[in-house]
Amino acid sequence: MVHLGPKKPPSRKGSMMDVPRDLLEQIAHLEKIFTVDTAKLKAIVKHFVSELEKGLSKEGGSIPMIPAWVMNMPTGKETGTYLALDMGGTNLRVCEVTLGGNRDFDITQSKYHMPAGMKSGTADQLWDYVAECLESFLKAHHPDKDTCQMHLGFTFSYPCSQDAINRGVLQRWTKGFDIDGVEGHDVQPMLEAALRRRNVPITVTALINDTTGTMVASNYTDPEAIIGSIFGTGCNGAYFDYVKNIPKLEGLTDLDPESPMAINCEYGAFDNEHVILPRTRYDVHIDETSPRPNQQAFEKMISGLYLGEIHRLVMMDLFEQGYIFEKQNIDALREPFSLDTSFLSQIEEDPFENLTEVEDMFQSKFAIKTTEPERKLIRRLAELIGTRAARISACGIAALCKKTGRTRAHAGADGSVFNKYPNFRERGAQALKEIFDWTCEPKDYPIRIQPAEDGSGVGAALIAALTLQRIEQGLPVGLREEFRRKQE
Ligand code: BGC
Repeated sequence: MVHLGPKKPPSRKGSMMDVPRDLLEQIAHLEKIFTVDTAKLKAIVKHFVSELEKGLSKEGGSIPMIPAWVMNMPTGKETGTYLALDMGGTNLRVCEVTLGGNRDFDITQSKYHMPAGMKSGTADQLWDYVAECLESFLKAHHPDKDTCQMHLGFTFSYPCSQDAINRGVLQRWTKGFDIDGVEGHDVQPMLEAALRRRNVPITVTALINDTTGTMVASNYTDPEAIIGSIFGTGCNGAYFDYVKNIPKLEGLTDLDPESPMAINCEYGAFDNEHVILPRTRYDVHIDETSPRPNQQAFEKMISGLYLGEIHRLVMMDLFEQGYIFEKQNIDALREPFSLDTSFLSQIEEDPFENLTEVEDMFQSKFAIKTTEPERKLIRRLAELIGTRAARISACGIAALCKKTGRTRAHAGADGSVFNKYPNFRERGAQALKEIFDWTCEPKDYPIRIQPAEDGSGVGAALIAALTLQRIEQGLPVGLREEFRRKQE
């Protein structure tokens, strides 16, 4: 059959007609365990708000709620040229950003692939590679220029405790990283030492989380954007609070209690105690076999690193029980993480009623022949996993709005899942509607999660600019000296 119309999902109604009863029962079971209904969403948000508060308290909680030492939003008039280095979960990026002074910017950038082995290599390998990329960028773009005066915003998107804007002690690796000798250490001196070994005399002006960068960059072009969020390899959010609402800073800074303070929530760690999120046994398996069990509970149900793996685990389980892929060699599918989240996106996007694209994908990637009923189950499972991720994601944004008493807000969002996963935005918006009981049309929803400006490039440059302004004005950019960690 030749499909000529626009890509649209097949009508769900007729689509299960030929599925045999035993598979229909399995689908019904999966629907049960992967569906998060309105009441559950509301319960998650309620618990989330109290956990955000707990993270700000002196005792602390499992959500780190890290003061990020960004104390004002940009005015839009910032100017200057800055370097930005972005070490996310998959690639490394070096940018040169020129802020134009009129909410505008120019950006030149190079991307470098992070070699697969690096995630579990040594600290020296990591920092040398990062320094090498920065050096090669400078050689390509500034062969003659003395670059030591350039200011660097370093986006290091892992939970770091910050006693000042340019420093950060890695609490723990996330996103599958497992490099010895970095956790518990300040990453700034490690990067600077690696740069010095290559005679690149650049120092870090600001150490930034991607969510804080996303919030600031989004606010630069849209003043209503007051939250930054990432739904990518990892998941997290940032917002502005006031110093007076952060008990754990009491007595440690010279800041006015009324001063705003950006908080890098690190809420991928929400529900590490496993009291509220509806985990399935597949989620438990992912957690237990990950390099950091009992960490990042929220992230492990949402982010791009895990969605494909959840799908794979369910299929493996159904195969072992004899429901699918009868008498087939499924060795290729046995490989952990062999099915990535982009594969799931493609499954959801197959425009054909008989799911022939899914058929081709399984043949070419796993050498598995699928029947049409199996493909229908596979597709329904992808929808369930993608929908659950989007709905649970919305709980973080809703909790931040509830905590700060906002009924209207824009959240700038970035990351591969947000940008590429089909229907992720619509499903997230629908969840917000249910959480807040809105009755209006989607276009009028008062809280919107929308595509962000480039947080780790433009955001990092803006934060470097804001930091320099504060330093020039003699304003604090960290804890009082006596409360700072001694330089390593
Ligand atoms: C990290 C955060 C980061 C998020 C998105 C999480 O795993 O802990 O620092 O913001 O991923 O990149």
